[in-house]
Amino acid sequence: MKKADVVKLLLGERADLPPRHCVGKAYAPSNIALCKYWGKRNVELNLPVTSSLSISLASHGASVQLSADDGAEDIICLNGKPLAPTEKFSLRLIDFLQLFRPAQSPRLRIDIETNIPIAAGLASSACGFASLVKALDALYGWELSLNELSILARIGSGSASRSLWHGFVEWHQGDRDDGMDSQAEWLPFEWPELRIGLCILSEQEKNIGSREAMQRTVLTSSLYSAWPSKVSQDMALLKQAIKDRDFTLLGCTAESNALTMHATMLGAWPPVYYALPETVRLMQQIWRCRNEGLPLYFTQDAGPNLKLLFLSRDQAAIEKQFPHIKVIAPFDAC
Ligand code: PMV
Repeated sequence: MKKADVVKLLLGERADLPPRHCVGKAYAPSNIALCKYWGKRNVELNLPVTSSLSISLASHGASVQLSADDGAEDIICLNGKPLAPTEKFSLRLIDFLQLFRPAQSPRLRIDIETNIPIAAGLASSACGFASLVKALDALYGWELSLNELSILARIGSGSASRSLWHGFVEWHQGDRDDGMDSQAEWLPFEWPELRIGLCILSEQEKNIGSREAMQRTVLTSSLYSAWPSKVSQDMALLKQAIKDRDFTLLGCTAESNALTMHATMLGAWPPVYYALPETVRLMQQIWRCRNEGLPLYFTQDAGPNLKLLFLSRDQAAIEKQFPHIKVIAPFDAC
């Protein structure tokens, strides 16, 4: 099954209709996985080997405005700057938009505003594709549910399926070949004291994207076979931690999950290693603080940056130790 078949399955006859409005606008938060998505069972549709669980980053994300345009080409502007149609980012975006445009559809002007660095392991593609499918829904007037939009966002980028909501979100792996059951779901739990500290060590584009790294790990790492059972255990522990507001359980599980994911990458060939010397130094500082009694944990995605996990009561002490972090209160927007 191809991406276009999934679109047809979800939209039915709506897939052939032109935009209902002149402009479609939407915002989606970025998200950080506490239990990671690492490995696909279907590369074309971004169907994952396992489920995953994330926390959204409130006002850190992307806004997209799509406007019907009578020019000959699509125009893409990122944070106010026009992008060349030949850039990797533009090609990926246009490729995705093509899935939704019936013949004779107008060209589009696509304005994207984001307040997080692109491609540095801070889930820029997650909020990018999630806001894009929401803006498409607004432009075309499809009136899809958020769960259905999560399926469309997933075919753009797996982690985007979780960026349709604020708060905690679970992406169910599903087992159907067409992926209709591989969608995310909002988890009805709040934790206002939870804080995420972004430690940006490098804003440079990583030298291997998550898509390629994931596939290489699945195909070549002998450690990958241990990953699915680690995920089932961690999913259960994280849900328990969220329900009971047990921060130690949440932090230990998220940190161990991230480190295990990176261990599977080290077992790949050629090996995949996202950490910089600064990343390792920061991990050691976090472990030192924890040994001295500060309840502080981290998680790491496909990039060198770390995201700290802590509670509001320790914010002042943590900002003293890590003066450069950007603190996010994920439940402020809910
Ligand atoms: O959705 P992608 O292809 O950007 O993959 C995301 C992979 C991780 O960020 C490492 C893990 C996750 O679950 O977000």
